[in-house]
Amino acid sequence: MCGILIWQLILSALALTAEAVNLRPTPASKRNNGPPPPQFVQTQGGSFFVNGSQFQFVGTNAYWLHALNSDQDIDNTLASIAAANITVVRTWGFNDVETIPENGTWFQHISNGTITINNGTNGLQRLDKVMELAQKHGIYILLSLTNNWNPHPLDDPGTAGGTRLVTNDTRPRNTLSNDYGGMDLYVRQLGSSQHHDQFYTNDTIITAFKDYTTAIVSRYKDNPFVIGWELANDPRCGSSLPASPSCETRVVTRWHSDVAQHVNSQDPNHLVASGNQGFVCPDCPKLFQRPPPPPPVAPAPPQPSPAPGTRRRRTPGPLTRAKLLRERKAMWRKARKVQKRSGKPSGGVRIRGRWMASPAIRAEDIDVGSATDGSHGVDSEDILSISQVGFGSFQLFPDQNDYRLNPEDTTLPLFNQTLQIGLDWIRFQGETAALLGKPITLTGFGLVTSGNADAFVPFNSTAPFGSDQGTPPSQQPFGVTDAERDEAYRQWLQAGLAAGLQGMIQYQWGQGNLTAQEGTAVSPTPDESGVTPNQDETGLSPNDGYTSLGTGQGEFLDTMKAGAQEFGPDV
Ligand SMILES: *[C@@H]1O[C@H](CO)[C@@H](O)[C@H](O)[C@H]1NC(C)=O
Ligand SMILES: *[C@@H]1O[C@H](CO)[C@@H](O)[C@H](O)[C@H]1NC(C)=O
Ligand SMILES: *[C@@H]1O[C@H](CO)[C@@H](O)[C@H](O)[C@H]1NC(C)=O
Ligand SMILES: *[C@@H]1O[C@H](CO)[C@@H](O)[C@H](O)[C@H]1NC(C)=O
Ligand SMILES: *[C@@H]1O[C@H](CO)[C@@H](O)[C@H](O)[C@H]1NC(C)=O
Ligand SMILES: *[C@@H]1O[C@H](CO)[C@@H](O)[C@H](O)[C@H]1NC(C)=O
Ligand SMILES: *[C@@H]1O[C@H](CO)[C@@H](O)[C@H](O)[C@H]1NC(C)=O
Ligand SMILES: *[C@@H]1O[C@H](CO)[C@@H](O)[C@H](O)[C@H]1NC(C)=O
Ligand SMILES: *[C@@H]1O[C@H](CO)[C@@H](O)[C@H](O)[C@H]1NC(C)=O
Ligand SMILES: *[C@@H]1O[C@H](CO)[C@@H](O)[C@H](O)[C@H]1NC(C)=O
Repeated sequence: MCGILIWQLILSALALTAEAVNLRPTPASKRNNGPPPPQFVQTQGGSFFVNGSQFQFVGTNAYWLHALNSDQDIDNTLASIAAANITVVRTWGFNDVETIPENGTWFQHISNGTITINNGTNGLQRLDKVMELAQKHGIYILLSLTNNWNPHPLDDPGTAGGTRLVTNDTRPRNTLSNDYGGMDLYVRQLGSSQHHDQFYTNDTIITAFKDYTTAIVSRYKDNPFVIGWELANDPRCGSSLPASPSCETRVVTRWHSDVAQHVNSQDPNHLVASGNQGFVCPDCPKLFQRPPPPPPVAPAPPQPSPAPGTRRRRTPGPLTRAKLLRERKAMWRKARKVQKRSGKPSGGVRIRGRWMASPAIRAEDIDVGSATDGSHGVDSEDILSISQVGFGSFQLFPDQNDYRLNPEDTTLPLFNQTLQIGLDWIRFQGETAALLGKPITLTGFGLVTSGNADAFVPFNSTAPFGSDQGTPPSQQPFGVTDAERDEAYRQWLQAGLAAGLQGMIQYQWGQGNLTAQEGTAVSPTPDESGVTPNQDETGLSPNDGYTSLGTGQGEFLDTMKAGAQEFGPDV
């Protein structure tokens, strides 16, 4: 057992003491009006607290909640989530449009320099309903304020007419999570150049976004069932609009600091989180001072031998590129030895649902990967060091990103490699957050199953990711089985608990029996003859490749319930 684990034990011992004597915890981040009332979610060290009790949770994502067609639908959805003992829902608190749509919800119209916020019955009053009904079911809401992804083509005729001519995508607006506006929409309408990072640097855009955050956070600042504000889903330098050459980690970090201060000044009651994917960059220049390291701990007891399939814990202390490289090379040597003995060929890695063959690598070729080299323009450690950022966040979508911290053990079956990449990533994030003394949550994790493969649309795309794509063409059937998904979720939940994560939010919830309405995210599905059925046909929640609806839903729910039980409320 290493120092970090002991530190975590000390923290949880402190937490227990605090609870036993009913001390009111002081928030980690400095609020401008002192600590918020105790019923608001706050932090002490690496934990969340509500009313003086520790709050650790399993959650789910349902970005489409405010786009449902009736209050009853929102109520039913939140009721079934609560019945699975899930206590946190992450959802979109934005819905930007360039053209006012014919049907469905919209919150903000940005066009030709003019910005209108819609607080009508098809506007923010939909979000009011989500908030009200969440509270009714005892569910906390993590609300994202914008999205990195909004891949509309520049010559998109808009959404009023429905079909996007360039992509010929006929799905109604708001079906996909990247179809709710976001950073690129602000840039398209307000930027002086068509670079994604204008969002972080252009004063006109920064002011527009701050005004939007003011509208949202001031609306819900007295609601204790907001767990916190997530500044953006997956902020980074690039999107469907490219990054400018000057975008680097400090640009994205500086924006976080500025907007987090603004949000905190409008609403001192709630925590602020980034929403980034957790990429780190040990050797990037920092803007913020890392908090002092945890106090020295007693000498470590003898180390128990690790369970088969688990990896050595990272040695404690600040993360450096040199250390990462040393560990990767050691792993590579170990994997190569095993591989030589087994005589199996070297494999590949699963990215965007596909196994990419990787050329045989030599020790001197090993470098830290894109998760740790700053190439996305994200340094989540520096962001978490911002005093107004109250808790850390990261994501885990092995079908869409490369999270490898270690060279893959190619002797393992492909599913097991994916599983292991997730376990390593979770452990790594827990250790990094422990060094900074703030809670960390996994705000989205998911695997695409073969049953969902046809519906899978990656975040930087508007079209399904066809099963015959990928270079080289797929050797494997696309997607994992339902049982593999459940096994991965089960092991990741366990790993998160062991790594000290304070919350884990699965992506994404699936709900049936919803009201369907033409031209909305829940539209009637055409039957086999292509004829659109009646308006009163019940609808399914949108699916971008990760829905929990389907034949395996029962087992999925059992997995989540078991996870929720373990994370569950303090007793
Ligand atoms: C926290 O305490 C307040 C005041 O006693 C109470 O109204 C509220 O329901 C409590 N919150 C939770 C989540 O227990
Ligand atoms: C889990 O949910 C069930 C059904 O809503 C409820 O009866 C039970 O008390 C919950 N368990 C916990 C630990 O919250
Ligand atoms: C955009 O705004 C400018 C200045 O207010 C105006 O002259 C122009 O006609 C507008 N263009 C469109 C397409 O509305
Ligand atoms: C909508 O905004 C207007 C103008 O700020 C305000 O007068 C009105 O009360 C708001 N209505 C709702 C329901 O928020
Ligand atoms: C979309 O459909 C139109 C009309 O059928 C066709 O002219 C156009 O080439 C299509 N665009 C793409 C990108 O497939
Ligand atoms: C931001 O965009 C506006 C509108 O295009 C432009 O006038 C302004 O110069 C830009 N500011 C910066 C700092 O790029
Ligand atoms: C997103 O997609 C566009 C268009 O295919 C591409 O040019 C861009 O590099 C992609 N951005 C990222 C961050 O993957
Ligand atoms: C792969 O993972 C599954 C599920 O955890 C496990 O049963 C199996 O033994 C693993 N295979 C190997 C070779 O480790
Ligand atoms: C819809 O409700 C019916 C009746 O309660 C239930 O049998 C069915 O499984 C539900 N469908 C979905 C997709 O949830
Ligand atoms: C809007 O809804 C109406 C009535 O349900 C429908 O006829 C129309 O096609 C929808 N518009 C779009 C753009 O989908």
